[in-house]
Amino acid sequence: MIVYLNGRYVDRTRATVAVDDRGFLFGDGVYEVTRARNGRLFEAARHLRRLERGLDALAVALPPALDSTALLEISERLLRDNRLDDGDATVYLQITRGAAEPRTHHFPPAGTPPTVFLSANPLAVPDDVRARGATAITTPDLRWERCDLKTVQLLANVLAKQQAVAAGAFEAILVRDGIATEGASTNLLAVIDGAIRTHPADHRILPGVTREVVLELATELGVSASEAPLSVRELFGASELFLTGTTVDVMPVVQVDGRAIGGHRPGPVARELHAALRARLVRDTTRAPAL
Ligand code: PDD
Repeated sequence: MIVYLNGRYVDRTRATVAVDDRGFLFGDGVYEVTRARNGRLFEAARHLRRLERGLDALAVALPPALDSTALLEISERLLRDNRLDDGDATVYLQITRGAAEPRTHHFPPAGTPPTVFLSANPLAVPDDVRARGATAITTPDLRWERCDLKTVQLLANVLAKQQAVAAGAFEAILVRDGIATEGASTNLLAVIDGAIRTHPADHRILPGVTREVVLELATELGVSASEAPLSVRELFGASELFLTGTTVDVMPVVQVDGRAIGGHRPGPVARELHAALRARLVRDTTRAPAL
């Protein structure tokens, strides 16, 4: 596999980052995971907007040459050169505040170049789990107060996901003050009285690109949706529960903490939204036939 690191395309096994990198030392950086199909990125503009917002919040400046167009070109070249231009894939992008010593908590000297890393990876779409519905556990949301930033400091998410895996579950649903915020690497949506409910896109969740697209698709399909907190009590009483995310699309959840949700099988709203999302993905990533 060929990856992009700081202006060069190199073999993955030879791509190394300095021990002084602030991503390594402090988790001082942001990342994106973007869906690709047939060598094309899906909803790239929304991912780039979220990235830009994160870089602004961290006060990390990219060199002018690495604008959105350049990042898209690098992504598409990685998909092509790694023969991922056929089928489902993801592009991972990470930007950290760069490497500087001595180690200081405060920012390194102005002009320290950020570390820029991109890789393209095959995606095994979890259609088998989707068909039967996923299981989840609930666990305390131990994250900080800026969950809206997609930073690489993911320890609380890592520990929550590992707890799910150890319990044989697909996802960990994070709970703060009795409110189910989101999954460890997904957003959470419920269907209550025929309407979708999901946590507001505030500082307590990551504003997922898939969540945003799915809410738009719901409106188009005439399913009403509101962005308001979802209590754990409401979660267990929901007629449907589903996760959204770049790596899962729309994933129905049929069991939480060993208790059945809805009819213990994927529900109609999740199925319809998944079909609509897949249709959008196919539409936006199908190449025009050569003339
Ligand atoms: N995770 N919430 C959290 C905490 C996430 O980490 C993610 C994505 C999402 C869904 O966002 P999107 O629809 O933009 O993928 C929600 C990525 C895929 C990851 O960390 O691998």
